[in-house]
Amino acid sequence: MSGAPPPRDDILERVLRLYDGERRATRFHVAMRARRVPFPALEALLPREGRVADLGCGHGVFANLLALAGPRREVVGIDRDAGKIEIAARTVGSRGNIRFSAGDLSTLRLDPFDAIAIIGVLYLIPYPRHRPILEQCRDALAPGGTLLLNTVDPSEGIRFWRSKIIEFTANMAFRLTGAQSTSVPMRLYPRRREEWKAMLASTGFSASAAAVPLATPGNVFICRRGRAVLS
Ligand SMILES: C[S@@+](CC[C@H](N)C(=O)[O-])C[C@H]1O[C@@H](n2cnc3c(N)ncnc32)[C@H](O)[C@@H]1O
Repeated sequence: MSGAPPPRDDILERVLRLYDGERRATRFHVAMRARRVPFPALEALLPREGRVADLGCGHGVFANLLALAGPRREVVGIDRDAGKIEIAARTVGSRGNIRFSAGDLSTLRLDPFDAIAIIGVLYLIPYPRHRPILEQCRDALAPGGTLLLNTVDPSEGIRFWRSKIIEFTANMAFRLTGAQSTSVPMRLYPRRREEWKAMLASTGFSASAAAVPLATPGNVFICRRGRAVLS
């Protein structure tokens, strides 16, 4: 038998099975995220070991993928939605390399991490909070640490608004069925790729854009402490 780790798509299937005991609306919600977000490709961009935070982790799909694909990672998932965190915490079982905690990125003080992921979150947080959150990530990262940022980009007007209307409608349904407990903001705070590039550089990150295909118009940035020109 080969000692190679299982393909990441198989691990994602294992992640989804962790939610088997949850209500149908939750299972649908996590399956929808797994279909719309290229989690395996994003996971491959992060180091295979060390302390990793998934900020705005939702129900914990990506955090669980990180922990199952990298048993030498110590993963922490944080989200302001206490209901989602309760569900995420139920997936942990006896595993020792993952935990979940409720917290708001706008007020949280981060522990030191080797890598931090923020996947599809900042467009829900008001513009003035973006820079302080990036600064906190920069300060929490160990030397050589990685910030993986998946942002939503409003540049592709119609495609952007179509995907946001679908997401907003789904979120309203999840809230009505109790699968989501926080309110869904009417106002969104997306930034274009050029704005993120400028803000990341001025926050002291060396960043490059990764070519990961996305269903929702957006960008994937791999960022490290230290300044550099973005491609
Ligand atoms: C679109 S979901 C993405 C969830 C997860 N990252 C994923 O990709 O499946 C956005 C998440 O960000 C969380 N969120 C929004 N604002 C937040 C804040 N200020 N602090 C922590 N979490 C926040 C929401 O509760 C929600 O779970």
